Formats: sequence, C-alpha cells, structure tokens
Amino acid sequence: MVVKLLLEITDLAVEVSGKQVLNDIDLYIDEGETHVLLGPNGSGKSTLFMTILGFPKYNVTNGEILFKGEDITHLNTTERVKKGVGVSFQNPPAIRGVRLMDLLKVEGGQDPSDEDLSPEMMELAHKMKLDQRFLDRDVNLGFSGGEVKRSEILQLLAQQPDFIMFDEPDSGVDIENVELLAEEINHLLDKDKKPGMRKKSGLLITHLGYILNFVNADTAHVLMDGRIACSGNPSEILEDIRKEGFKGCVECCGIH
Ligand SMILES: Nc1ncnc2c1ncn2[C@@H]1O[C@H](COP(=O)(O)OP(=O)(O)OP(=O)(O)O)[C@@H](O)[C@H]1O
Ligand SMILES: [Mg+2]
Repeated sequence: MVVKLLLEITDLAVEVSGKQVLNDIDLYIDEGETHVLLGPNGSGKSTLFMTILGFPKYNVTNGEILFKGEDITHLNTTERVKKGVGVSFQNPPAIRGVRLMDLLKVEGGQDPSDEDLSPEMMELAHKMKLDQRFLDRDVNLGFSGGEVKRSEILQLLAQQPDFIMFDEPDSGVDIENVELLAEEINHLLDKDKKPGMRKKSGLLITHLGYILNFVNADTAHVLMDGRIACSGNPSEILEDIRKEGFKGCVECCGIH
C-alpha cells in the first residue's frame, strides 16, 4: 500500500503583528496519521494552527505548506476548508444572529431552507448532548466551556474534513465529557479502522496530554520558543515532560 503525504510543512517561519513567532518548522503528516503538538504556553502552538488554517494576520515569511501535494501557502481560509482542512478552535467566537442548527445545515451540506436538521445530524447532536434548545441558540453565545467544545466537535462531524486540527479540545472539560469528545475525535480520525485503512489525519494540540489517554497518536512534537525541539513517540515524550518538564524533555532530545 502506498502511503500518501497529506500535509507537508517545510522550513516555515511566521510573523504575527511584527513579532517573529515560528521558525524552521518542518512537519510531515501522512494520510491516516494523527500527530500531537505539545509545548508550554506561548510557544506558538495556536500560531501554527492558525497559519495552517490561513488566517490573514499570520504572515508566512519563509517556507511553504503543501496539502494533498498542492501549495496552499497563499490560499485563503475558505479555499483551504474547501480542500478538506477542518478545525476545532481553542477559543471559538460566539456568532450572534446565527443559530447553531443553521450553521450545522451549511456545514453538513443540507439545504439551509430545510426546517429541520437531517435525522443523522440530530442523532449526532443528541450524542454530543446538544439538544434542540442548544440547536436553536446562537452559535456559542452563552455556552459553557464544555458546551463550546462539544459544539466544535459536532460541527466537524457535519463537515467530515480529511485533515483536522484540534486546539486544546480537552481544556476546561470535565472527565466524562473528555471521554465523550475523545470518542468522536476517534471517529473523525478513522481510529475505528485498522491503521492501513485510515484516510483521515489529525493534529492534536494539548497541554497536559490528558486526551491522549483516549485518543492514540502516532507521533508527538514539542514546540519550544517557536521551534520544533523534539519529535518522537507520544507516550515516551509525555512521560519525559511529566518527569522533567518541557525544558528537560527537550534537553533529552539533544537540542538546547
Ligand atoms: N496577534 C498577536 N500579536 C502579538 N503577539 C502575538 C499575537 N498572536 C500570538 N502572539 C504571540 O505569539 C506567541 C505564541 O502564541 P500562541 O498563541 O501561538 O501560543 P500557544 O503555544 O498556543 O500558547 P497557549 O498554550 O497558551 O495556548 C506568544 O508570545 C503570543 O503572545
Ligand atoms: Mg494556544
């Protein structure tokens, strides 16, 4: 079986509001793989996420991003999403005047004038514990932290992207709900299929790695001061970070 490279990031440098945040980033994710991005606060994890998504204020000063073999470095966010990039934000905005169910209709390819969500989507909403009262509310407006994260995952279930980035899907979420989110993340990333049969890929950003108790990842990367300072086996790297902290883990990788 030929394994296809889905995301190829080479020698990437990114500047935000006049500050150079990322440097020398090389990241290669194959079809069917899930990678984890770890790193202390302010190391540049969300910046990498937003750059891959193509937010305009994240200015690529060097390098390139290829997706499905195509250079997407200068495409806008809408074009990238259409090509199969999906995201769950760390802190998504509330969208006043747009009901969650109307957004879900568009994301799921339903006719926006349909009165109801499709039975399949209703079943998924029920699974994510977002009943009709939530579906009728404006997106994320007044949602609790856990409800926001469940709404993000539900939207991804509607979109079914080929490559999904999750920015701290477990932060601020209680244990039971982390397990619920993880179950759906596993579906989204084809984890219920054998490794060789998986088509979907993911990049999972997490601080404490708690979600990795429920979602298996293939490779982990540690971002320090805007550079990937260590890459390797996720459980070994996490164990190192827990024992030695981020600095100790990176020193162990031989990069100071
Ligand atoms: N719009 C901006 N203007 C100025 N500096 C920014 C901007 N966005 C990000 N930065 C800076 O870039 C650095 C990396 O931020 P980023 O949000 O990517 O970190 P992070 O690794 O996601 O942190 P956390 O774990 O806290 O979410 C920080 O020092 C941050 O202040
Ligand atoms: Mg962040």
